[in-house]
Amino acid sequence: MELSGIQKIIEKNGTHRSALIPILLDIQDEYHFLSRDALACVAQTMDIALVDVYRAATFYKYFSLVPKGEHLIQVCLGTACHVRGAPGVLNEIQRKLHIKPRETTEDKLFTLETVNCLGACAMGPIIVMDEEYHGQMTVSKVDKLIESFKKHEGITKDEQDKKH
Ligand code: FES
Repeated sequence: MELSGIQKIIEKNGTHRSALIPILLDIQDEYHFLSRDALACVAQTMDIALVDVYRAATFYKYFSLVPKGEHLIQVCLGTACHVRGAPGVLNEIQRKLHIKPRETTEDKLFTLETVNCLGACAMGPIIVMDEEYHGQMTVSKVDKLIESFKKHEGITKDEQDKKH
């Protein structure tokens, strides 16, 4: 993680204390986690005690102090989704990616999380991939969805290789 990138994010948001959360959100979005160095840089540049920056970073579930994957998969385990088969969908994702909730695949492509009721129970069971809702999920639909993401990443990586 380059600290010049962190500095740019701070410059964009300003150093007023009220900018702390927007800054942490921007860093999380850009780097998929909040590193120790990034938090120290934020504390120093904004003249805020490091403990206060950590307090904000650990208060919100959205923030992660360890690297997250490129793609975030959230499986709803609320009651309606649960009775419609969410546990089976979750099991399939775990089996396919070899990770448990709150873990990230070795290739840093996917992070898996569980959530409680996304407010769209009629579509259950639901998973959210990178903020996009996918309803009426089944084991075979999950397989196809993950494969399509992997394929897309493969194409992207090939394209990147050609550029270098
Ligand atoms: S229980 Fe899953 S959206 Fe409500």
